[in-house]
Amino acid sequence: MKKTATAFACSNIALCKYWGKRDTQLNLPINSSLSISLADKGARVTISLIENNTDQYYVNHTQISADNTHYARFKKFLDPFRKKNYAFKIEIDLNIPLAAGLASSAAIYAAIVKALNELFEWNYSIKQLSILARLGSGSASRSIETGFVEWHRGEMPDGSDSFAERLNTAWPELRVGLCILETQQKKISSRAGMQRTVETSILYQSWPQQAERDLVRLKSAISEKNFELLGATAENNALAMHATMLASQPALLYSTPETICLMHKIWDLREKGVSVYFTQDAGPNLKLLFLAKDAEQIETEFNNVEVIKPF
Ligand code: PMV
Repeated sequence: MKKTATAFACSNIALCKYWGKRDTQLNLPINSSLSISLADKGARVTISLIENNTDQYYVNHTQISADNTHYARFKKFLDPFRKKNYAFKIEIDLNIPLAAGLASSAAIYAAIVKALNELFEWNYSIKQLSILARLGSGSASRSIETGFVEWHRGEMPDGSDSFAERLNTAWPELRVGLCILETQQKKISSRAGMQRTVETSILYQSWPQQAERDLVRLKSAISEKNFELLGATAENNALAMHATMLASQPALLYSTPETICLMHKIWDLREKGVSVYFTQDAGPNLKLLFLAKDAEQIETEFNNVEVIKPF
């Protein structure tokens, strides 16, 4: 039996968001979603079997205490895979901020699943790994793969058809720009936020329809390499998701004044003919979408933007 294994998984940013679960235990989504992965941004995880009674979890070399919310989540996720007389030591190295709306949990759970697959020599398929990662964090189902990834919501109550698959299209000119305004952990996790929205927001009723429409538009934008359609659809999808949150009770607002300023700046630039769009997750940071030909101008306009080449 192997005693240690390491794996890397990249973060992903949804262009059509996952927001709302039909099963909170199995992380089964109400709608299908589509993401772009962030190349070398993500999590490297080393899992070791240790002769100990309790697990040890480290994030960027700092041990997580038992009262930290991440501790209980890791433990619950790992419980079904325990070997008698061993505990897990999990070392997570992130090159993105933790829980700041940059899909850190997606990368972490996908990397844990890939490392377990190595450690226990399961030889699972991508589909099986995606289903397992989904149990840790919904969006992690999309981090098993790279490039454009679609997570099928599925129909089965046991979640056996709710997994992510790579689209067979590369778009080498596409760029994602990370505008990191805040690296602090968010006060309300996406898990809690989406549950509150589903339960209390009257605007949530329109969300499944929006997501279904946007998924179709995004897939045709990708196959036709129609950047305006991709950008406009992704931006509208993110804003519509945030609108459902605003109508929650109590209201849920992840944007800060800086986020709003940045949105105006992006809209102003578009009016001037620069083709740049944004998307936003459960945090104040925005992610820019643009093409390689505009990279120089974007880097001049946005201080500290980190440009990712997904392909
Ligand atoms: O997978 P979770 O529970 O971290 O939820 C992700 C939610 C969003 O990032 C807002 C949307 C998405 O599809 O990634």
